[in-house]
Amino acid sequence: MNHFDYRDGTLHAEAVPLAEIAARVGTPFYCYSTATLEHHFRVFAAALATAGLDATVCFALKANPNIAVVRTLAALGAGADVVSEGELRQALAAGVPPARIVFSGVGKTRHELEFAVAKGILQINVESEPELLALSEIAAARGVRMPIALRVNPDVDAGTHAKITTGTKENKFGIEWTRAHEVYRRARDLPGVEVVGVACHIGSQLTDLEPFRAAFLRVRDLVAILKADGFAIRRLDLGGGLGVPYDDGTEPPPHPDDYARVIATTLGDLGCRIVVEPGRLLVGNAGVLVSRVVYLKEGATRTFVIIDAAMNDLVRPAMYEAYHHILPVREADPQAPCALKDVVGPVCETGDTFARQRPLPPLASGDLLAMCTAGAYGAAMSSSYNSRPLVPEVLVKGDRFAIVRARPTYEEMRAFESLPDWL
Ligand code: LLP
Repeated sequence: MNHFDYRDGTLHAEAVPLAEIAARVGTPFYCYSTATLEHHFRVFAAALATAGLDATVCFALKANPNIAVVRTLAALGAGADVVSEGELRQALAAGVPPARIVFSGVGKTRHELEFAVAKGILQINVESEPELLALSEIAAARGVRMPIALRVNPDVDAGTHAKITTGTKENKFGIEWTRAHEVYRRARDLPGVEVVGVACHIGSQLTDLEPFRAAFLRVRDLVAILKADGFAIRRLDLGGGLGVPYDDGTEPPPHPDDYARVIATTLGDLGCRIVVEPGRLLVGNAGVLVSRVVYLKEGATRTFVIIDAAMNDLVRPAMYEAYHHILPVREADPQAPCALKDVVGPVCETGDTFARQRPLPPLASGDLLAMCTAGAYGAAMSSSYNSRPLVPEVLVKGDRFAIVRARPTYEEMRAFESLPDWL
């Protein structure tokens, strides 16, 4: 569900024509819909509440750290899941209270741990013994006991793209399932940490609930073992991962209601507060990447639609063979025949391809195209490869829009570079 629709033959974000934004900010740009962000948060939070769960929804900033996006969600009560000092600073700047922030990640530096402890966040999800020892030392030196969960690796295959599967024993994440109890015991004896929970996250863009169920049942078993051993486990952080529809004709992902029911049936009776860390689900369908057709080129075997967005702006197709639906901003004449085309960017790599042999209506140079479901891991993963400026981000609310990240100038892009004195 989203708020990008055709009105009077032209694609709008809520009540704003995308062409109007393009005229103001230039292309390419990301555009986010406030109504869609709010809708997704409310549906997700309501699903958890309806399932009878005492839950905190911590938005995974990695999906979209834009301050206006985070503030929009924070205003509805969202917390934050962060994986770096930068994200933690971003969450705080957006107005997320420290008491609603969890810090995940496999390689938090001592400096990052110190910063998180100093800010008094809700919890740190510890992913290894060396991290546990470092954190205890840091917190003890400040005279505090930092609330922690150990992120366990349940060895469950999420059945998603290999690059975004995180919960099998071949993955770098978490503490090996079979060793978890031993590490919990170690944590108990440390002066700077207080064990409050168990955390797990098995992967992203899951379209099947069974891997969640399997992982949650393992968490349940572990909680039983820990409670029997005297641990006061009161929080379960179940990670993120619920998929979104990318409209590629594949099976739609489960509804949040069904996801919440899986949590309730596997863990609902343990008397623990549930923390979830959705990223994509909250922001994916709330964003589009708008770009302009630069040229149409007839190749030997196919037609190339060359657009002004590239893999540096949206890397998902190049990196994960991801499908993004592509809509012409000017609504296509329903009578006009679609033809198969390749949609490509200007970057000098064959991987800079958004779609291969995609049925598209007739297009001309200058036409605008919207790449859908680009609100998650779009701008967040963008770079300035090929010395292309990061694209601006725009947030729409009703009939208003605002630039929430500006396009840098070339001078700004060069500002951190300098020549050594021998040049
Ligand atoms: N929590 C942890 C510990 C995570 O590692 C992640 C995602 C999330 C929560 C949020 O997962 P989500 O609800 O968004 O699935 N760049 C890839 C996705 C990488 C996901 C990494 N971790 C993509 O574009 O598909």
